[in-house]
Amino acid sequence: MKILITGSSKGIGLNTARFFLMKGFEVYGIDLLPSSIENEHYHHYIADISKKETLPEIKGLDYIFNNAGLQNCEDDISNNLKGTINVTEKYAFQGYIKSVLFNASASANTGDEFPEYVASKAGIIGYMKNVAIRLVEFGATANSISLGGVLTDSNGPVIKDRACWKKIMDATPLMKWMSEDEVSEWVYFLLVTNKSASGIDILIDNGEANLNSSFVWPKE
Ligand SMILES: NC(=O)c1ccc[n+]([C@@H]2O[C@H](COP(=O)([O-])OP(=O)(O)OC[C@H]3O[C@@H](n4cnc5c(N)ncnc54)[C@H](O)[C@@H]3O)[C@@H](O)[C@H]2O)c1
Repeated sequence: MKILITGSSKGIGLNTARFFLMKGFEVYGIDLLPSSIENEHYHHYIADISKKETLPEIKGLDYIFNNAGLQNCEDDISNNLKGTINVTEKYAFQGYIKSVLFNASASANTGDEFPEYVASKAGIIGYMKNVAIRLVEFGATANSISLGGVLTDSNGPVIKDRACWKKIMDATPLMKWMSEDEVSEWVYFLLVTNKSASGIDILIDNGEANLNSSFVWPKE
């Protein structure tokens, strides 16, 4: 089975690439950066997903994890949204495809982060639904995950700053962030195990958006 993972050189993408290699997949990675993975079943391409013409020719993909994304870069909409559309339009609509998963963000649901980043991720959820409709003729699924905080290196500045971390935990009902390993388990489940849910976004945020109770009632 062949899977394409974008943004596979760091963080969540790197972890999922290793996870799928462990599961016996042929893994194709696209990133702006070189890869640290040395494995004969891993094929790395240095390319910018926002520039269509740099995308490599890869035939017969079974699965796609649209993961690459940056926060508050020069142009989040081109990088995250347009780049994700470029990848999906190039590789998804062919006879081998079984599932496409998009890495959106909890901020697409709450609106609570950098403006262009939020817009790019909310756009990804809308586009995911369009893809799900168009993949029906291939018997394939498309879904997205909207993650809250993940314990990645890129979040180091807030994880290591005690004052920031306390503020974050005070606003996170389950009092933790998820690990990269847990994200990989979700990605595997939604891409490979799941055959029946399509066109849905799953919010996985330790209760940040929905469990901060605001119920008010007078004391007797
Ligand atoms: N880390 C979190 O807490 C969190 C939460 C919600 C959503 N996300 C989303 O998860 C995804 C991965 O996040 P991460 O924390 O692992 O980030 P990261 O910065 O550690 O890794 C992102 C990778 O994507 C690559 N990339 C970015 N733009 C690219 C482009 N145009 N072309 C090719 N490669 C590109 C980068 O080079 C990098 O290797 C992102 O889309 C992010 O928005 C992360």
